[in-house]
Amino acid sequence: MMDWTDRHCRYFHRLISPSLRLYTEMVTTGAILHGDRDRLLGFDPAEHPVALQLGGCDPADLVESAQIGADLGYDEINLNCGCPSERVQKGSFGACLMAEPDLVARGIKAMADAVSVPVTVKCRIGIDDVDDGPFLDRFVKTLSDAGCQTFIIHARKAILKGLSPKENRTVPPIRYELVREIKASYPHLTVIVNGEVKSCDAIRDHLETLDGAMIGREAYQNPWFLREVEETFFNTKNLLSEIEVVHHMADYATRMAHDHGTPVKSITRHMTGLFAGQKGARAWRQALSTLPHQDGADAGVILQALDAFEGKLAAAA
Ligand SMILES: Cc1cc2nc3c(=O)[nH]c(=O)nc-3n(C[C@H](O)[C@H](O)[C@H](O)COP(=O)(O)O)c2cc1C
Repeated sequence: MMDWTDRHCRYFHRLISPSLRLYTEMVTTGAILHGDRDRLLGFDPAEHPVALQLGGCDPADLVESAQIGADLGYDEINLNCGCPSERVQKGSFGACLMAEPDLVARGIKAMADAVSVPVTVKCRIGIDDVDDGPFLDRFVKTLSDAGCQTFIIHARKAILKGLSPKENRTVPPIRYELVREIKASYPHLTVIVNGEVKSCDAIRDHLETLDGAMIGREAYQNPWFLREVEETFFNTKNLLSEIEVVHHMADYATRMAHDHGTPVKSITRHMTGLFAGQKGARAWRQALSTLPHQDGADAGVILQALDAFEGKLAAAA
């Protein structure tokens, strides 16, 4: 998720959940080919398995970007065919690519021929006023014929004119049944549902017919949900407690400041939801919204915020 799931957020989520697959924000091929690659694509080995999501449409640029990503060690290359923003439409990629399945198929095939990691697609169920079922079917069939085996489908259409990206994540209705129909029609494909997945019960329901679920906003706003998912579906033992996660993040912030000059606020901004729902959560949020922004703030502010949280917790006991 753009501006959200950067490397610091992913490192934080990985501490909470050792097993889930993490995705980068969409990174455009233009940025990869002409920008600061270390800043855009650098990641910590602890993040594996981690997928690089590309935004672009030109097959040659996609191939070069996918190769760079694969060489850096990303475990999957995912093509964004779901972003409805105006800026992305101007570049003729994101959700508007769903109207051009043959072009996408060429890009997918070229990438799959060039890298040894899986090349996957994230798309919507449709765009604008098309009849979603047949439209999605044709899109998936064309890409699957080109070698794409995995589809992550956000189960609402994108309205390209008239709705903001935010509205495009709430206004068009969710239609999980169309995602299930794709899996029923193409049982050999890996079909992963996305959109409004917020509980383990919902994931369990989806897994009865589908191969997986992608969690977006809930993972960011309530990161401890990932812990519940980890325990429920992977049965992992010896997971870190919240307090241990915070200590690891303080160490990480020290390392990132030393190695890359990363300001601590770039890291703490992803951590505000950690104690969501607990007594002391407000003190934690307040501390993180002020301390990291002060002059000279360093990783110590993370432990100060923890003290503020624990102080409130003790007072409430
Ligand atoms: C701030 C923000 C940024 C997003 N950026 C991306 C992106 O870069 N690539 C992408 O495929 N989806 C992006 N999305 C969409 C989410 O991945 C997801 O498809 C959508 O929020 C629906 O899932 P959810 O209900 O679990 O959040 C973004 C969503 C948000 C809230």
